[in-house]
Amino acid sequence: MLAWPKWRVLAVHSVGCGLLSAAPYAALENTTHIMAATDVPPQQSPQQSPLQAQARDHLWMHFSRMGGYDEQHEIPVIVRGEGCHVWDEHGNKYFDGLSSLFCVNIGHGRADVAQAGADQAKDLGFFTNWSYAHPPAIELAARVADLAPGDLNRVFFTSGGGEAVESAIKLVRQYHKLTGNPNKTKLIAREVAYHGTTLGALAATGITALRQPFEPFTPGGCHVPNTNQYRLKPGYGAETLAESIRERILFEGPETVAAVIMEPVQNAGGCFTPPDGYWQRVREICDEFDVLLISDEVICSWGRLGEWFGAQRYGYQPDIITTAKGITSAYAPLGAMIFSDRIAEPFLEGHNSFTHGFTFAGHPIACAVALANIDVFEQEGILDNVRTHEADFVAMLDSLRDIPIVGDVRGAGYFHAIELVKDRETKESFDDEESEWLLRGFLSGELFRRGLICRSDDRGDPVIQLSPPLIAGPAEFEEIESVLRPTLEEAWTRVQQRRR
Ligand SMILES: Cc1ncc(COP(=O)(O)O)c(C=O)c1O
Repeated sequence: MLAWPKWRVLAVHSVGCGLLSAAPYAALENTTHIMAATDVPPQQSPQQSPLQAQARDHLWMHFSRMGGYDEQHEIPVIVRGEGCHVWDEHGNKYFDGLSSLFCVNIGHGRADVAQAGADQAKDLGFFTNWSYAHPPAIELAARVADLAPGDLNRVFFTSGGGEAVESAIKLVRQYHKLTGNPNKTKLIAREVAYHGTTLGALAATGITALRQPFEPFTPGGCHVPNTNQYRLKPGYGAETLAESIRERILFEGPETVAAVIMEPVQNAGGCFTPPDGYWQRVREICDEFDVLLISDEVICSWGRLGEWFGAQRYGYQPDIITTAKGITSAYAPLGAMIFSDRIAEPFLEGHNSFTHGFTFAGHPIACAVALANIDVFEQEGILDNVRTHEADFVAMLDSLRDIPIVGDVRGAGYFHAIELVKDRETKESFDDEESEWLLRGFLSGELFRRGLICRSDDRGDPVIQLSPPLIAGPAEFEEIESVLRPTLEEAWTRVQQRRR
């Protein structure tokens, strides 16, 4: 049997911006785990449908080990959604504890939001943002500018998050060139952070396993410790974490550093929140060295943390925000980069322009959908729902701490992770092989079988992540708990049995 490195074995579950953790037991390269996984039957597994064969033969799924699917190992085919739930092709119902991929913020099945796109198509199905404007893009840009923190008022649309990050990387480079600092090209990001998969964004992504297969790529990506306060690196206290950025800027040479890019709460590794004062100190450091601060809010905006933007939750002012996902609640693909007049100014002079674009970015249908989505946020009090019930969500997760496998519970808003440990006193984690056995061999399949889509991930230490639709409340948290508790208890029993 091949000794796959941890990241490959777990790819279908966790590599990337959030593969379905609870996607069932297929696409595993490691035979042991395929066999272990089949111990966990799906809720219902009738004869495989014609869709299965077609999917296997033709649909290349992202971050998926396609060779792992066969007649015995189904591809989960999700056919319908309503509110916090989705159904698969066999009629099995699941709680979507991940909002699909941190994006269906207002929940599934909102025909009214989709209708806004259809209505727009009747007037103007498509026109580009390359040298032309159209009403939905104009209106949406103005609305986003109104909601964005401080002076951020210029909106450059993209088709998704990776494109937004890519655009920000290019914007900061060109900005510094236009303002007389052509050598400011480097980016400072954090270890284990995910910022997308395009070659530019990969320079910022701090996950070795996602970088290695594609190197070399855009040079200049530098990484500093993240804010994992459960496992602080030797020599770091929560109050000194921001200083690693200053040290790195000095090490690289401030005249070579273009920007710092970080998420308000870091997804990969398991919802690392910032210590008090962290962002304020990062802002000061960026100002000290004329380094631009990019807040990558592809996940952390549009209510995920209870505010329109994550920066508002932590009270800092970025120079650029990158966003996507919840901007349309995933009813259409759209992303955006938002920046201020200060950054825009050099591009407004003479014949200058930002020499960058994407055909479909700012698609009128996607913009109309985004406007309808924001209407839902405002009319149905989506932010208030998160603010009101965040404590209930945390209380439910905290209540699981009596299960010895639960080492840490952390996060903000409707974006939390549970770190799993072998020994809570010592915080001893699972080694690669144990982690495979636990996450892949048991937890992922069992959670899915019991009807919960969430995410098990070991890009850092093993975690289960939950990011439910923002319409969820106490009843839905109970539903999550009704699956999580018995599954984690059973996992702990299996850990103990394995020890004997
Ligand atoms: C922080 C962050 N940046 C960028 C991306 C890439 O976004 P996309 O998958 O839309 O390209 C993601 C995806 O989850 C993300 O979480």
